[in-house]
Amino acid sequence: MKLAITFSVLLLSFALVYGDSKTKHYVVYMGEHSHPNLNAVIAANHDLLASIIGSIDGAKQAAVYHYGKSFRGFSAMLMPEQARKLAEREEVVSVFESKTNILHTTHSWDFLGVSSSGESYPMAPYSDSNVIVGSIDTGVWPESESFRDEGLGPVPKKFKGECVTGDKFTSANCNRKTIGARYYLKGFEAENGPLESFGNVFFRSARDSDGHGTHTASTVAGSIVSNVSLSGMARGNARGGAPGARLAIYKACWFNLCNDADLLSAFDDATSDGVDIISISAGPSPPQPIYFNDAISIGAYHAFKRGILTSASAGNSGLPGTAANVAPWILTVAASSVDREFQSNVTLGNSKVLKGKSLNPLKLEGFYSIIPASLAAASGVTSQNASFCKNNTLNPTLVKGKIVVCTIETVTDGRTEKSKIVKQVGGVGMILIDPVAVDVGFQFVIPATLIGLQEAQELQGYLGSEKNPIATIAPSETVLHTKPAPEMAVFSSMGPNIISSEIIKPDITAPGLNILAAWSPVATEATALRSVDYNIISGTSMSCPHASAVAAIIKSRHPYWSPAAIKSALMTTVPLTSIVFYLLRTAAKVLDNTKNIIVREPSGSTTSPFDYGSGQIDPIAALDPGLVYDHDSSDIINFLCSTGATPAQLRNLTGELVTCKSPLIPSYNFNYPSIGISSLNGSVSVYRTVTHYGNSQSVFIASVKSPAGVYVTVAPYMLKFNGVGEKQTYRVDFKPFKDSNGSFVFGSITWSDGRHVVRSPIALNVVSI
Ligand SMILES: *[C@@H]1O[C@H](CO)[C@@H](O)[C@H](O)[C@H]1NC(C)=O
Ligand SMILES: *[C@@H]1O[C@H](CO)[C@@H](O)[C@H](O)[C@H]1NC(C)=O
Ligand SMILES: *[C@@H]1O[C@H](CO)[C@@H](O)[C@H](O)[C@H]1NC(C)=O
Ligand SMILES: *[C@@H]1O[C@H](CO)[C@@H](O)[C@H](O)[C@H]1NC(C)=O
Ligand SMILES: *[C@@H]1O[C@H](CO)[C@@H](O)[C@H](O)[C@H]1NC(C)=O
Ligand SMILES: *[C@@H]1O[C@H](CO)[C@@H](O)[C@H](O)[C@H]1NC(C)=O
Ligand SMILES: *[C@@H]1O[C@H](CO)[C@@H](O)[C@H](O)[C@H]1NC(C)=O
Repeated sequence: MKLAITFSVLLLSFALVYGDSKTKHYVVYMGEHSHPNLNAVIAANHDLLASIIGSIDGAKQAAVYHYGKSFRGFSAMLMPEQARKLAEREEVVSVFESKTNILHTTHSWDFLGVSSSGESYPMAPYSDSNVIVGSIDTGVWPESESFRDEGLGPVPKKFKGECVTGDKFTSANCNRKTIGARYYLKGFEAENGPLESFGNVFFRSARDSDGHGTHTASTVAGSIVSNVSLSGMARGNARGGAPGARLAIYKACWFNLCNDADLLSAFDDATSDGVDIISISAGPSPPQPIYFNDAISIGAYHAFKRGILTSASAGNSGLPGTAANVAPWILTVAASSVDREFQSNVTLGNSKVLKGKSLNPLKLEGFYSIIPASLAAASGVTSQNASFCKNNTLNPTLVKGKIVVCTIETVTDGRTEKSKIVKQVGGVGMILIDPVAVDVGFQFVIPATLIGLQEAQELQGYLGSEKNPIATIAPSETVLHTKPAPEMAVFSSMGPNIISSEIIKPDITAPGLNILAAWSPVATEATALRSVDYNIISGTSMSCPHASAVAAIIKSRHPYWSPAAIKSALMTTVPLTSIVFYLLRTAAKVLDNTKNIIVREPSGSTTSPFDYGSGQIDPIAALDPGLVYDHDSSDIINFLCSTGATPAQLRNLTGELVTCKSPLIPSYNFNYPSIGISSLNGSVSVYRTVTHYGNSQSVFIASVKSPAGVYVTVAPYMLKFNGVGEKQTYRVDFKPFKDSNGSFVFGSITWSDGRHVVRSPIALNVVSI
């Protein structure tokens, strides 16, 4: 994460300037709310702090935030020793240093992407206007057409939020679409100094100067806007997945970074404001901290207890074990492609056409000489160093008026940056050899395109055989119905879950590659300095709001479903058209449009549930799941007990006194919509309970795809239901006959009544037989 690293270096130096160099910003988390009002909470927090710091005045000075609406706690500038003393106090669940979370666009990779409008989201418009989605992000550009409120009725009565005014944000900037807006910066400033010191454009209000929050909010619930595009690319109707849903905006991220203490305050407010779904496209950098040292996990836990599902991005770290936001009470969303490409091809002087991809609206008139950057090194620079097109490595005389061929040094290279450097030294175009990220849409300041290895070889051949090689780069064309699709995006973070290895993460995948949505016109950093109202970017940041939107639609149709039921519906439902595949023991949810199992970009490598969880989200099927794996917060407590939460941590989590059941309920029996066992020693029986969510009588029959080396039987294999709400428990017996050699083996269990297909992936690590 290049950007993130640059920022943390900045942060460090500001921390030295701004606070006492020995204090750090800590979150003191105290669990369930047990005080009647906020003033009482604040007074009690000051008393507790004073007992450590020595005076009430000192306590008041140190305190940054007080959390008292949905859960209890505060944040404060403390010395490590003071933090340690607080952690020993009986009423405190955990004390952790406020960490910096990162937005899950590929922004930090400088990755940018698209989604055309709602072509993948055929929903009945405005039937969902009773639902409120809380978006915790970088704010909103309220004037965007995507946030117009024509056709929407009054603000739902249940909403208790506010439209907080501030810099270039008045109460007139809220309407019946954007019904609330708040912003949080105390934590960020306490650690980093004033926002002004960063030298970036920003607004001290919920107004978005980054674009990210506008993009994610409009992807969830943007109104329908016809004929939008990014400079002609991806032209079509823009719409959120739940175009009638209302948006409550919680701006807690500044300059791509989200401070834990600010996030926690946003969760506290959102949970008590009456939102139905929380969407958050940010998370901790890997490794994921334990849940009670992590703001998003804590905030989402209390939201879950109040019936609110949190949908969160899995992260863009792209490697095994890097998935973020993996708590079992969060819906964790991976990113995959749609069947669309932005092709910006290169035509060589010999008429050969190389397939290139980028978000390139610029036309290069005619042919130009082409030069590899490695042959244009500035004096004293090695040819290899020059090939990466970094600043001050190229010889302007050699590249002037030419198309420059650059290569990627590391996957985190700033692509746009390279185009700026080529332009600065007089180049007219750029061909970037970028085999890993070739599918991710980037934007450039000159005509430029990305090519893969095969094209690079062809280019090499041409350059080697031609004395005066020439080429031209075509502006991007939007090509639809490409195959295969979906593919897992190269950056999408993967399981296994490093905190709760029995829970398969991510949970699902949704479109997150090259997504078109509304943008902040002042956010030109990501758009090669062009001011745009709609932009194409990529990341699990973009897939998360797709899932949040479907959750909102389900909530609107079924207002009384629990967050676990909504999540189960999202995860298990397989489209009915796939009944044939069900019989063949595969499921459309994990198949691409060539009827093969979804592969991973860029080279089509094989995948597992650790890439996509239960598979690709299906917005239509999810509305009618047939069966649901439900659970509540007491099941979560049992799960935390079985995975080793300390009595001290658990004590204050719920309002009542909590004791772990004895014997503990095995963590693999937590009624999750997927099944995982991280160390299977011989035979084990796993239990699941399904709730019937259909009206009529029905009979579901099980079908199993066994993981390699394990016999699997289901009992009973047939479940009869007479009415809605009926629960039945079944048992799955795993009998391993081959050790899986330290890695997981995968299978699935699928129930069908002929009208619904309800599928759960299985992941087992067989350590002994
Ligand atoms: C935490 O639990 C302890 C012991 O049960 C109790 O005294 C204390 O008030 C609780 N703290 C909060 C914030 O509810
Ligand atoms: C969409 O907008 C473009 C450019 O503004 C215009 O040329 C085109 O005719 C419009 N298409 C439709 C269907 O309105
Ligand atoms: C780009 O080149 C590839 C390979 O020659 C070709 O299949 C594709 O149709 C071209 N795309 C466009 C938009 O011309
Ligand atoms: C090449 O780049 C590396 C890494 O940035 C640097 O350490 C080295 O000094 C550079 N070599 C030259 C000759 O510029
Ligand atoms: C390259 O470095 C020079 C100073 O050496 C600076 O003025 C210029 O802005 C840099 N260019 C880019 C694109 O960062
Ligand atoms: C298997 O054995 C390991 C090590 O003895 C233990 O940690 C684990 O909990 C066992 N797993 C099951 C499913 O019993
Ligand atoms: C088991 O894993 C080890 C190390 O990953 C590997 O060297 C060995 O070949 C594997 N054995 C089998 C039977 O797959």
